[in-house]
Amino acid sequence: MKYKYWIFFFFILIASLFSCTNRNHEDDWKKLIESEALLAAEQYKLLYANTPEDRMPKTYFSDKQEWETSSTSWWTSGFFPGTLFYLYELTGDKELLELGMDKLDILEKEQHNKRTHDLGFMLYCSFGHADRLRPNDKFKQIMLTGSQSLSSRFNEKAGVIRSWDHGKWEFPVIIDNMMNLEFLFWASEYSGDSTFKDLSLTHADNTLKNHFRKDFSSYHVVDYDPDTGEVLNKETAQGLHDNSAWARGQSWALYGYTVMYRHTKNEKYLDQAIGIADFIFNHPNLPEDLIPYWDFDITEEEQKHRDVSAAAINTSALLELAKYTDEPRSTDFLNKAEYILKNLVSDQYRAKGDEAGGFLLKNSVGHFKANSEVDVPLTYADYYFVEALLRYRDWYLN
Ligand code: GLY
Repeated sequence: MKYKYWIFFFFILIASLFSCTNRNHEDDWKKLIESEALLAAEQYKLLYANTPEDRMPKTYFSDKQEWETSSTSWWTSGFFPGTLFYLYELTGDKELLELGMDKLDILEKEQHNKRTHDLGFMLYCSFGHADRLRPNDKFKQIMLTGSQSLSSRFNEKAGVIRSWDHGKWEFPVIIDNMMNLEFLFWASEYSGDSTFKDLSLTHADNTLKNHFRKDFSSYHVVDYDPDTGEVLNKETAQGLHDNSAWARGQSWALYGYTVMYRHTKNEKYLDQAIGIADFIFNHPNLPEDLIPYWDFDITEEEQKHRDVSAAAINTSALLELAKYTDEPRSTDFLNKAEYILKNLVSDQYRAKGDEAGGFLLKNSVGHFKANSEVDVPLTYADYYFVEALLRYRDWYLN
């Protein structure tokens, strides 16, 4: 009897220790997210104040203390309002909601833009959140027109949406395009027209077939013959070389197939996302802090710049993928996401005060070989970082 009593007591002790550690872990994360969000809110107000009314922020050059902005036709134009909306959700500060709403006026016209595949980034990462936070028929109509513009780039023969109209290619499709499919799922759901969703599925299936190597790494550009649908070439534009694994491309793929699984529950997309995650996180060239260099195949010391944007996208994707996977993968993905987040908020990558002109994260790479945006802050790094903070708070903290 006495012995049984002691066993019982022992188990109660272990259980309380475990729940205490868990509570401390949760409290630490709550505090971290709260302080990160408050700091980010002030930084984004500064960024807003330094961005001309008719422009969107793009990057900041600390050495010259200069901001670079873009017109709304640039692919990143949706991220600034999107991040303001996410920061409103994290802080409850209504000023951020209004600043985000203010920025939508100049973006609206892009619904008619049929010259790019980036309409998901531009319109869903902005109007999508605006509509979620303040439902409005006008926002929905803008997104529906934008989805029609995006769909107009689909080629029946090749079964893919054209990415770019520029360059040497016949019908180029880049792995990044996986990120625009979520927008088409929304359009089908809203309009009741399954065509949008069907295009999305066909594009994802053909990308799965043609963009990936056996090790689940992805080519950047696949060029199709628009008349026959045949694959002409597999290359890169922003990567180190045609056969290398451009870091952000792998991140877009990881995020993209996770979203495909969210919408379809088709296991082939989940397997693809897991395969991509395994490629990224088992790669021998991935630094110990899990913030990748801009290409996994870099060997030259002078090219070894981190791409924080890829790490931010990976973090947000892993937080979602962890919800769909079985143990022990699920915990492993969550631990990795936590670890990357902790590294992203360290002094090495996280801008302090106005150090980066209001941007949140330093050290991203836009296009290394074009010597464009190397080791700078970028709007999409911030967007996926803040999305990850919000996802962590809403999905993993009580
Ligand atoms: N989607 C363009 C880029 O990731 O650079």
